Amino acid sequence: MSKPSKREDDETEPLKDSYERRIDYLRISITDKCNLKCLYCMPSKGLKPFKDSEILTDEEIVRFVRIARRHGLRKVRITGGEPLVRKDILKLVSSIKKAGIDDLSITTNGIMLSKRAEELKDAGLDRVNISLDSLNAERYGNITNGGDIESVWDSIKEAERTGLVPVKINMVPIRGINDDEIASFASLTIDNNYHVRFIELMPAARNGIWRREKCVTSNEIMEIISKIGEVEIFSFRGKGPSRNYRIKGALGVIGIISPISEHFCGYCNRLRLTADGNIRPCLFSGIRIDVKTPMRRGASDEEIEALYLHAVRIKPERHLLNEDLRAAGLIDTMSKIGG
Ligand code: 5AD
Ligand code: SF4
Repeated sequence: MSKPSKREDDETEPLKDSYERRIDYLRISITDKCNLKCLYCMPSKGLKPFKDSEILTDEEIVRFVRIARRHGLRKVRITGGEPLVRKDILKLVSSIKKAGIDDLSITTNGIMLSKRAEELKDAGLDRVNISLDSLNAERYGNITNGGDIESVWDSIKEAERTGLVPVKINMVPIRGINDDEIASFASLTIDNNYHVRFIELMPAARNGIWRREKCVTSNEIMEIISKIGEVEIFSFRGKGPSRNYRIKGALGVIGIISPISEHFCGYCNRLRLTADGNIRPCLFSGIRIDVKTPMRRGASDEEIEALYLHAVRIKPERHLLNEDLRAAGLIDTMSKIGG
């Protein structure tokens, strides 16, 4: 896929929020539906899904991206739910890319990716993040409520083959459930150019399993990794919240994302757009700005633009999870906001 042609507005500087953070990244949840039920994400009974009519259409999503693009948006991640369950995903990927997005990625559980990797790449997708919380088939099945680990491995291999790289693997360690696998996951990076990212377990009001003690902190993760070999800082905080390391001589990279044990908010460069059309300037804040209703009432681009600018302006300085766990109640469920 060739890069979009140079446009007049290519040099637009990303907007800065009230705390001097450059906002050039949007995470778009395109569906709240999922073919799995990971225990940290959804209640096992599942959730009442949005009605189809409540979900933003392709045209609405792309319109929003175009408007944000004028203000320096460069990077988009498509999330869910499971984004690959959305119909016409290829068309949507292609339209978002064509809107002038340099770095377009998807976070997927990898169950359905292997058959679609090539066409997604052709449609303009640059990279994928694949969620994988255990290397053991039975345990993986338990954590995901029935997922088949072989499909995920097929997807990882296929993503590599088709050039959706670097393949990032998201692992959420949960004490007593899969924390004994941290070293094995980190060791995957020795012979493979994977980026294995450990994400501290976050509360979501209805995920049931959240207790602070279940969260394995970044310090604990680091301690385990440093026993594998000499650990070098790979790029200490580029853009975004991940701290990256490399085991000396390894092909891949290890990232640690610690929303709980330390604040990464100072590095936050993103906004979120929910499947039902609300801008969420921070995952852990209740602030939502509805763009769907105005769009459906015929708002002009300027009016939608004003909502985008407003969302950037009121993006909170930081989350309060460490001071006030009630803030956790604001994350109704990851599958509706897109993690
Ligand atoms: N805590 C941490 N990460 C989560 N994700 C979803 N729910 C949680 C949670 N409660 C992340 C996982 C998954 C992505 C879709 O969202 O990393 O890979
Ligand atoms: Fe689905 Fe991802 Fe949530 Fe798992 S974490 S239930 S794969 S949306």
